[in-house]
Amino acid sequence: MTLRSLDGHVFLVGFMGAGKSTVGHLLAEILGRPFVDLDAEIERRTGRACARIFAEGGEEVFRTLESEALAGLAAAEPSVVACGGGIVLRDANRRLLRELGTVVYLEVTAGEALGRIGNAEGRPLLADSGPAAATLLQARTGLYRASADIAIDTAGRQPDEVASCIATALSKSGEAR
Ligand code: S3P
Repeated sequence: MTLRSLDGHVFLVGFMGAGKSTVGHLLAEILGRPFVDLDAEIERRTGRACARIFAEGGEEVFRTLESEALAGLAAAEPSVVACGGGIVLRDANRRLLRELGTVVYLEVTAGEALGRIGNAEGRPLLADSGPAAATLLQARTGLYRASADIAIDTAGRQPDEVASCIATALSKSGEAR
């Protein structure tokens, strides 16, 4: 797999509970870069919690705000970016991810993700009324894979191990600085 220049961002994608934010913080430290949590960025830009945006406007409104927040990163210094689990749903987002940096897919099973998440509060797509996590994950797996430059299996691994594994994969490609 060919990586594009690490002058761009390192994007972490994957299902809810894959550990994108936790691993992202650690990876940012290792690479000496700022860390950006895209959900937090949406909340900063709108002044509203993501769950509230879902409740008040529905998923499409959230997706549009998410795309805008992603596009806003074009002007940001190279960072490690933890994306929301649904970032790969829009074609335009997938194109932009690849244009703006290197995409790392954190693989997780639905069972492990749910175990890590525990209480699904704040994750409207995992509310009782939504599809089962396994169904959602299955529907998205192809999109995560298609978007990714690097895939890392997180099963049974601690966040620090996953972070250093990503750093190694990046440097093996001769891209990390
Ligand atoms: C979503 C994942 C959430 C958040 C929103 C939608 C998704 O982020 O963006 O609730 O569609 O999978 P995390 O993956 O950080 O939980």
